[in-house]
Amino acid sequence: MAALAIIGGTGLTRLAGLELTERRVVHTRWGSPSSALLLGRLHGREVIFLARHGERHTIPPHRVNYRANIQALKDAGVERVLAVAAVGGIRGDLAPGRLAIPDQIIDYTHGRAQTFFEDDLEEVVHVDFTEPYCEALRRRLIEAAEAAGVPFSPHGTYAATEGPRLETAAEIDRLERDGCHMVGMTGMPEAALAREAGLCYAACAVVANWAAGRGEGPIGMDEIRRNLETGMGHVGRLLEALMPR
Ligand code: HPA
Repeated sequence: MAALAIIGGTGLTRLAGLELTERRVVHTRWGSPSSALLLGRLHGREVIFLARHGERHTIPPHRVNYRANIQALKDAGVERVLAVAAVGGIRGDLAPGRLAIPDQIIDYTHGRAQTFFEDDLEEVVHVDFTEPYCEALRRRLIEAAEAAGVPFSPHGTYAATEGPRLETAAEIDRLERDGCHMVGMTGMPEAALAREAGLCYAACAVVANWAAGRGEGPIGMDEIRRNLETGMGHVGRLLEALMPR
């Protein structure tokens, strides 16, 4: 079976328990990915890990080379991609520390390189994106979260914002009116590029904070770090349940 790739976001620049076999520095025709590919075994299964914001967490969401990241994983022979990403919780159940497996996404980003199908085309390409996440992988994530007994929500619409600043309370009100349940800065164009590349892509969102105006007072980085530590503990347990299948 081809290796599963894990793209780690904020709070997951290292994969606990990864038995590293190779650190592979690669380059693609879209440029360099955010980090070297870390190849190894996690709970006995082959995985390839990529740190979305770089190994030292220095690349902000709007500067991530999403095309290079997805291309690098495709070139490595990956067929399935699990994206781990921090979000702010909008819907009442999405409290800090909880996990969510989104099933829809709305793209509010702008100015990012959105597609592989741009130049030197033989014909124009429009991929279907009705269901933006790979349902087979989503199902496995839901089963793993249930087996691991971690707090999680199996559905939700992810709002992808440009960042790097957090939103205003009025922007979150608008996202809620649009039908969004969580908000993050990296879901797009990552999901769309994975679809263009023919990869089975699903996300595990980790709620880092209540979205703007939904909690008490301003959102602090300390609060985000603390909640992500809890949430990443849950991701670790989910991965352990996911791997032996
Ligand atoms: N908004 C956008 N992205 C985020 C947030 C948020 O509140 N928390 C973590 N990533």
